[in-house]
Amino acid sequence: MIIGIPKESAAGERRVAIVPDAVTKLLPNRVLVQAGAGETSNFTDDMYAGYKAEIVPDAASVYSQSEVILKVQPPSVDEVEHYREGTTLVSFLYPATNLHLIKSLVAKRITAFAMDLIPRISRAQSMDALSSQATISGYKAVLLAANSVPKLFPLLMTAAGTISPARVFVIGAGVAGLEAIAISRRLGALVEAYDVRPAVKEQIESLGAKFVQIPVTAADAQATSGYAKAQSEEFYRKQQELLAEHVKISDVVITTALVPGQRAPILVAEDAVKQMKPSSVIVDLAAEQGGNCPLTEAGKTVVKYGVTIHGLLNLPSMMAPEASRLYSKNVTTFLLSILKNSSMNVDLNDELTRGALVTQNGQVMHEPTRKAMEGVK
Ligand code: NAI
Repeated sequence: MIIGIPKESAAGERRVAIVPDAVTKLLPNRVLVQAGAGETSNFTDDMYAGYKAEIVPDAASVYSQSEVILKVQPPSVDEVEHYREGTTLVSFLYPATNLHLIKSLVAKRITAFAMDLIPRISRAQSMDALSSQATISGYKAVLLAANSVPKLFPLLMTAAGTISPARVFVIGAGVAGLEAIAISRRLGALVEAYDVRPAVKEQIESLGAKFVQIPVTAADAQATSGYAKAQSEEFYRKQQELLAEHVKISDVVITTALVPGQRAPILVAEDAVKQMKPSSVIVDLAAEQGGNCPLTEAGKTVVKYGVTIHGLLNLPSMMAPEASRLYSKNVTTFLLSILKNSSMNVDLNDELTRGALVTQNGQVMHEPTRKAMEGVK
């Protein structure tokens, strides 16, 4: 089997799907790596060649020969045009928001697996790319905040006086939020955190943060998948009001709240930002899904009412070597789980394989995507 690794083409993407030493895991299959694919993650062509990958000059050479293509970002429709019919693709795909791409995968009869759809089950932990990348985002969010807030994170007692610790409020305590709590604590900040899922209270407290309890509880906050469920507009309005009390006393607010398939809920309203102290900082990790603050501008850092709001996208790409290393482990483990004796072995009865499968044999296999496709010409 021939496995191809193209250079990521999306703007600003520095990661690569496979790091050099992961090639060993894929042997005796042939592994083709586009020249320069690892460059922005500090992996040279020679390093890949040292692990028996074959370096090919351009993306066209990868597409024309590969039976399996491994990527980080969803490919463009134009790239898919150049794939061989029937190729297997493993990549982040976010199918619900990439319907034209899904249409092109169907037309090319691509067997496509979305890394973002891998079920959050114990067996799949080492394949969980959402978690591995969110961990990096959580870490980087804290550093961005610490770098832009004019306040020291730790309590410092010096001969010249005592400096009180920074107050950090983390909203949304999933993978990124928990990492942000842990790193903020390690830097010495006083940390409060809130999540709509009461189940995370213990995890927040075990990291040394205070769980913020607000007198409004979501009926049915958590889906069986472990993700948060969407709530009513009225619920979100009450949340905003109650969370504002904690937002206004914080030096740093890190928001990470997401609901799968929905716009990110607004949790830090404009009025709450107005009440924040001058030079406070918000890092909105939900920027890609519309943001948890209405003043967030995706891809930008803005200053509103004296508050710096970071809406930067793709934080893992800023830490490309480490992020690629983790992603590479995730994608390789997944690929090996669907290969048998160097051939594809797609078992539709396996919850893991079935959960990640988006298209196969000219059909959309992922039910929510199939429904969403119904209005797409
Ligand atoms: P996510 O990125 O979808 O959302 C981040 C956080 O935002 C979640 O904790 C969610 O509850 C919270 N949130 C959503 N709406 C909110 C609101 N209105 N107010 C406050 N918070 C809100 O979540 P992530 O990080 O991808 O994790 C999802 C779930 O999957 C979690 O329960 C996590 O523990 C679980 N998980 C399980 C794994 C496993 O068993 N292998 C691995 C990783 C995650």
